[in-house]
Amino acid sequence: MELIHFTWPWRRGGDAHGFFLLNSNAMDVVLQPAPAVTWRTIGGILDFYVFLGPDPASVIGQYVEVIGYPAMPIYWALGYHLCRWGYNTSDSTWEMVKSLRNYKIPQDVQWNDIDYMDQFLDFTFDSKKFGTLPDMVKDLHVHDQRYVMILDPGISSSQPEGSYWPYDEGLKRDVFIKDAEGKTLIGKVWPGLTAYPDFSNEVTHEWWYENLLRFHEKVPFDGLWIDMNEPSNFLDGSTNGCPSNSLENPPYTPGILGGLLRAKTLCATAQQKQSIHYNMHSLYGLLEAKASANAMKRIVAKRPFVISRSTFPSQGMYSGHWLGDNRSQWKDLYTSIAGMLTFNLLGIPLVGADICGFSEEPQEELCVRWTQLGAFYPFTRNHNAIDMRPQDPTAFSPLARTAMKQALLLRYSLFPVLYTLFHHAHVHGHTVARPLMFEFPKDVKTYGIDKQFLWGKSLLVTPVLDPEVDYVDGYFPEGLWYDYYTGYALHSQGEDLRLHAPLDKINLHLREGSITPTQAPNLTLWVSSGQPLHLVTALSEGGAASGDLFWDDGETIDTSENNLYSYILFSVAQNVMTSQVLHSNVEATYITVETASFYGVKQKPSRVTVNSQDATFTYRDNQVLTVADLGLNLSQNFTISWMF
Ligand code: NOJ
Repeated sequence: MELIHFTWPWRRGGDAHGFFLLNSNAMDVVLQPAPAVTWRTIGGILDFYVFLGPDPASVIGQYVEVIGYPAMPIYWALGYHLCRWGYNTSDSTWEMVKSLRNYKIPQDVQWNDIDYMDQFLDFTFDSKKFGTLPDMVKDLHVHDQRYVMILDPGISSSQPEGSYWPYDEGLKRDVFIKDAEGKTLIGKVWPGLTAYPDFSNEVTHEWWYENLLRFHEKVPFDGLWIDMNEPSNFLDGSTNGCPSNSLENPPYTPGILGGLLRAKTLCATAQQKQSIHYNMHSLYGLLEAKASANAMKRIVAKRPFVISRSTFPSQGMYSGHWLGDNRSQWKDLYTSIAGMLTFNLLGIPLVGADICGFSEEPQEELCVRWTQLGAFYPFTRNHNAIDMRPQDPTAFSPLARTAMKQALLLRYSLFPVLYTLFHHAHVHGHTVARPLMFEFPKDVKTYGIDKQFLWGKSLLVTPVLDPEVDYVDGYFPEGLWYDYYTGYALHSQGEDLRLHAPLDKINLHLREGSITPTQAPNLTLWVSSGQPLHLVTALSEGGAASGDLFWDDGETIDTSENNLYSYILFSVAQNVMTSQVLHSNVEATYITVETASFYGVKQKPSRVTVNSQDATFTYRDNQVLTVADLGLNLSQNFTISWMF
C-alpha cells in the first residue's frame, strides 16, 4: 500500500501541499482530527516525498512527475464500452452488438467476461458456446469496433500434462510464485486450482507475451481486462495453508480484510523473484499491467489498452482502472464521482465505475442517470454481474433508451476536448476529470463538492444523483457560466443554484473564457473523429477566451514524443478569434473547422469576416453568434472577426 496525502490549509488562500510515502507493504493510514497523518507500515523501504504545490494542481503535477506520466490512450479507449458477466454464448454477445447498431447507439468496444473461456482457462475459448467468437471479432473490426476480454492471473494447475501450454510452459520456464519451501504455490480461482505468474520476473513477461500472441492468432482481441490481480485467491494462502512465523503473523497486522495478511490472497512467505510476497503483494497488479501493456504493444503495434482492478503508483503508465464491484444503487452512483476524481489525482485518469451498477438490478431511472454521469467518466463502461437482468441501453423503454443514446452521443461529440485533456495528462500530469477546488482553490465552498466535477478547467458537469426529481442543485463558483446546449448565460456570485434536469438531460456548463472543440458525433469514434469541428466559445465578461486542441492519428505510440501530432491554440480577444497552429503534422490535421459559436456576444454584429472575407452568420437574442459552413483547414491559421 502507499499513500499520497494532501493537506489543504483552509484559510491560507488556497495553498496546498502533498505527502507521499512510496512503500509497498501492508499499512494503515490514520487521518487524525488534527492536520496530521500517521502511516503504520510493516516493512519495506520508506521513501517519503513532500510536494510543495503551492496549489492543488501543482501538487498532482509534482506527484505524477515522480511516479510517471499516464499513457496516452488509444482513441477508442474513450468510446462506449459494453460488458457483462453472463453473455452465455458468442452469438448472444454478437446479438448485443447488432442490437446497439440497430438502435444507432454509439459503441466502440464489446467485452467478454470469463464466460468465453473453456472451463475458465486463460488463453482458451469455449469452442461450443463461443465457437463464433473469432467471427464476431472480425465483424467488430469491419464495423470499426473493438474487442476486449478478461484475463485472470491464476493459471490452472490441474489440466492433464501436455494439454495446457500456459501451465506446462510456465513450469518449464519457472515463472510461477513459489511457497516457502520452494514448491509452486497453488491457490484456487475460477478454473479451480491455480498457480500464480510472478510478474516480478522478466522471464514471466516473455511467457505472458507468448501466451497472448498465441491466443491473438485465434482471437484477434484489441485490449485486455486484467481482473483478480490483488492477487485474489478463494483460499487463504494456498492449498497447504501457510507457515506459522512472524511474516505470516507479524507483531502488528494492519486493518485488512479478514485480519490476516494471507486472507483471500497468497501466503506472505510466498517467494517471488524480487522478494517475498510480504513485500511484493501490493505490486502484483502494477507488474501484471506492465507485462500486459508491453505485450500488447508488441502484438498490435499500437497504444496498448489495459484495464486493471488492482493498482499501485505508476499504474497509469500501463493501464486504466475500473472502480471494482459496485451495486445498482443510487448511493453507488453518487460515490463513483469521488472514486473517479481520486484516481485522477493519483495519475490514473482513465477510470470509471461500472455504469448502472455491477451487482443487483437497476431501476430504469437509475440506469439512465448513471449512463448520463458515466458519459463523463474518462473510461465509460456498462458492466453487469452474472444472473442479473440485462442493463444495456436496449434493455429499457424507448424513452430511457433514447436518453442513454443522447448521453453517449454527447460524449462522442466532446471527443476532441477529452482527447486533448488526456494529452495534457500524459505530458503535464494534469487531471482529466477534476474537482472544482482545483480550479477555484481560493473558494472554500468548492472544497467539499463531490456531486459535481469539471472536465479540464472549463466544462462543469452537474449530474442528477437522486430518484424522482427533474431538477438538480449545483454550486457555481463566482463568474459567468453558460448553458452548454443553449448558450444562455448565468451570473453567479458563488451560489447554489437549482437547474432543470428532466430525465433526458445532464446539465453541462461552460466556464467563461473557454473555447471547447467539439465534433458531430457518430456511432464509433473512428467515424466521428473524422467529422468537422465545431468550436464553442464562452466569452469572459471582458470578451476574451482561449482553448486548444491536440490531434494525431489516435493510435500510433508516442506521437507527442516523436512530433507526429498537431497542436492548435484558439483565442479570442477584442472580437477576433485566432487559430494558431503551434505544431503541425499534415496527417493529423485532415479535418476542418466547420462551425464556430460564440456565447456572450452582447449585441448583434453588423458584419462578420473569416480571414478578412465577409461571411454569413446568425445571431440569437440570448447573445449567441454562430458562423457556419466555414470549411477551414485546421492546419492553417485563421481568424474570425465580428464588428458592430
Ligand atoms: C470480479 C470482477 O470485479 C467483476 O467485474 C467480474 O465480472 C467478475 N470478477 C467475474 O470475472
